[in-house]
Amino acid sequence: NELKKRFPEGFLWGGATAANQIEGGYLEGGKGLNTPDVLPGGKVRLQVLKDIGFDFELHPEKYTYPNHEAIDFYNRYKEDIALFAEMGFKVFRLSISWSRIFPKGNETVPNEEGLAFYDSVFDELHKYNIEPVVTISHYETPLYLVKEYGGWRSRELVAFFERYVTVLFNRYKHKVKYWMTFNEINSGLEMPINGLGFAIQEENDRYQPTFQAFHHQFVASARAVQLCHEIIPDAQIGCMIVYLPTYAGDCNPENVLYALKEEQLFNYFCGDVQVRGEYPTFIKRYWREHGIKLETQEGDLELIKENTVDYIAFSYYMSRTEKKDKTDKDVISGNIIGGIKNPFLKASEWGWEIDPIGLQISLNQLYDRYKKPLFIVENGLGAIDKVEEDGTINDDYRIDYLREHIKAMGEAIEDGVELIGYTPWGCIDLISASTGEMSKRYGFIYVDKHDDGSGILERKKKKSFFWYKNVIATNGEKL
Ligand code: BG6
Repeated sequence: NELKKRFPEGFLWGGATAANQIEGGYLEGGKGLNTPDVLPGGKVRLQVLKDIGFDFELHPEKYTYPNHEAIDFYNRYKEDIALFAEMGFKVFRLSISWSRIFPKGNETVPNEEGLAFYDSVFDELHKYNIEPVVTISHYETPLYLVKEYGGWRSRELVAFFERYVTVLFNRYKHKVKYWMTFNEINSGLEMPINGLGFAIQEENDRYQPTFQAFHHQFVASARAVQLCHEIIPDAQIGCMIVYLPTYAGDCNPENVLYALKEEQLFNYFCGDVQVRGEYPTFIKRYWREHGIKLETQEGDLELIKENTVDYIAFSYYMSRTEKKDKTDKDVISGNIIGGIKNPFLKASEWGWEIDPIGLQISLNQLYDRYKKPLFIVENGLGAIDKVEEDGTINDDYRIDYLREHIKAMGEAIEDGVELIGYTPWGCIDLISASTGEMSKRYGFIYVDKHDDGSGILERKKKKSFFWYKNVIATNGEKL
């Protein structure tokens, strides 16, 4: 289990979270409502995210809303950060909730209480020499902007976002040196509610609004990169994509081509724009065939070209296997993006196929393509944990998962890939983004909270807590 000196000095070990999945306090401190506040808890959420015509209203008579309290990081962040420090975190990835800073999203003056909250969180992290890694927009849009403007379909969001990031960069310029713009930006292709802040209203009106919304985000993201470089010259700002290396189900060239096309669209389209600074050639054909006519303004393409990201952050949970003529029977249900079952892989309890070699493949593919530093800002195993009578939580399955993925990272570094850090997802148990469940746990730290909302929110160290502490202490040498 030894992986000798593969990880560079200063490697950024840590953990990752998002505001809406940990903070709670959904109306505290002047915060306005945002998209995840109206997403229901339980497996029904996945259906809502994929369905047509979501109304963005609260329906307390039929749904629960676990994000409203989440794990109460809003009030307990000091205790949680002390535990991260005990594990030896060098970095902690969190997101800022836009509607804490601008409750409706279109105000001109920010909410001081929201800004002060993140000041306290960053100060607490720095007390322990933990660098914050901040996602500016993690699967949330102020609800007012969704209802009044149609989310990112509207060009007006670019200006609102610009105001938001300008406030963040000026306020936190001495406290935050690692930023990223939109979480898993490419997931908008599958689930626009999360990232793009609108719901598909009719199946045959899916493509045009989606790609128009993407264009607005690319412009907003490029503007954020520009502002970040101006306001905080010693900071780095990245894009963030969800990456699923896509295998062909067999060596039939038709299936290989199909997998390649899927991979171009899902894995590379957004990254190509944000990293290379231009729309990839393959997308032009796709737009033609789907009747998409992009509306751009003068200067957009230059702005995108001149303001590319400093590093590529990505999440990796699973690979994807594809073939051209698949039937419903072939499709694996749990995986975020369909695909067919891969007979060589086992799946998690939620049906996500576990593939550590896929991480080595991803790192090689991304580095070959972009030649920019890579940062794995999400990876992990969502599983049901059991608290034993003596209070211990023996999550060996999680340790096994992480160990194999860290080994794959070491192999990729040997391959020559420049990897700067690793922040496993949900380092403290949190609300699942796709199912709103608490029982889908990723953490090194257990939180006593359950799907029905019960629990006293007490924190407990799992076996993986001590294991990961040692991984960090030995810079990845003892696994
Ligand atoms: C990523 C998201 O898709 O995966 C996170 O960026 C999310 O917000 C994570 O929580 C794990 O997914 P889930 O559905 O298990 O919470």
